[in-house]
Amino acid sequence: MISNNSEAIERFKSIEKISLSNLQTPIETCDRLDKVYPNLPNLYIKRDDFIGSLVWGNKLRKLEYSMADARAHNADTIITCGGVHSNHARITGQVSRRLGLDCILVQSGEKPEKMVGNPRINELMGVSIEYVDSRDERQPTMEKIADELKDEGKQPYIIPLGASNEIGSWGFVNAVDELQAQQQEIGMQFDAIIHACSSGGTTAGLEVGKRLFGLHDMPVYGISADDPPEKIKESILSATQPMIERIGLDAPITAEELNIDDSYVGEGYGIPTELSANVTKAFLDVEGITLDPVYTAKAAAALVDYSRKGIFEPTDNVLFWHTGGLLNLFK
Ligand SMILES: Cc1ncc(COP(=O)(O)O)c(C=O)c1O
Repeated sequence: MISNNSEAIERFKSIEKISLSNLQTPIETCDRLDKVYPNLPNLYIKRDDFIGSLVWGNKLRKLEYSMADARAHNADTIITCGGVHSNHARITGQVSRRLGLDCILVQSGEKPEKMVGNPRINELMGVSIEYVDSRDERQPTMEKIADELKDEGKQPYIIPLGASNEIGSWGFVNAVDELQAQQQEIGMQFDAIIHACSSGGTTAGLEVGKRLFGLHDMPVYGISADDPPEKIKESILSATQPMIERIGLDAPITAEELNIDDSYVGEGYGIPTELSANVTKAFLDVEGITLDPVYTAKAAAALVDYSRKGIFEPTDNVLFWHTGGLLNLFK
């Protein structure tokens, strides 16, 4: 179905969501950081680390839609997955509790020896956790648990990894709507967005959102915290295709148009690189802004490196989307 954007916007706005927090997160300038990194563009930061409280982040945007869908399916138990320190898993547990639902987490890795950060909150909430050995076992284990619950007469609802499917990703379409209003208020348009990515839903929503709200030319750079670009792009496209069809948006998205970069992962997920560690220190020291070591520090490292390489020019207006994750400082 092809339609003009206003019809597509109307269809998007009619999609059910549950309001979980104040999502009007501020956009702030970071104009002292160029004393440390002289080639930086005009840098702005979108503070999703401010969503709700210090411990929330980008996942809450997606859960507004996933939880509305769960409710529409009369779910009584939410099942989701992630690594043992997953922000998404813990936030899903917390939101489930907020909505009076049961929650079961399938987490890859061993039960942490020290229950700090996200695992500590999971423990305090008393959500059930099933540990599995590998990432590949998460989806089949969630499905097995869902089947068992159905046999007991329950109504389970699976939210996939990172809520990064064609439902949760609407949260970042909504975020572009919010951004567009803020741009109009500030009286400028950003030349690029840079953010941390992994399961791809944040990027999927931003890519659909920028086409829906007329920001076609603004590149979105997703900086991987772990997986190679091919895998993340596959996940993004499997979300964007049904989203575009659902609202009848005449703007196909291809793998070639996606800017996913895994050059800043270093030795692996959650392991700081020299640059990410230095940039984290500089953000705190000069701007008083905390980054998390797993996601935002790697994206900030890319931001600095892109400026050195001239991908960002000093005159560009670049928005660094802070996606939260700060509990991972404590692990
Ligand atoms: C703090 C933080 N930033 C970024 C991401 C990546 O977002 P996405 O999974 O939508 O690519 C995640 C989750 O994986 C996260 O917890």
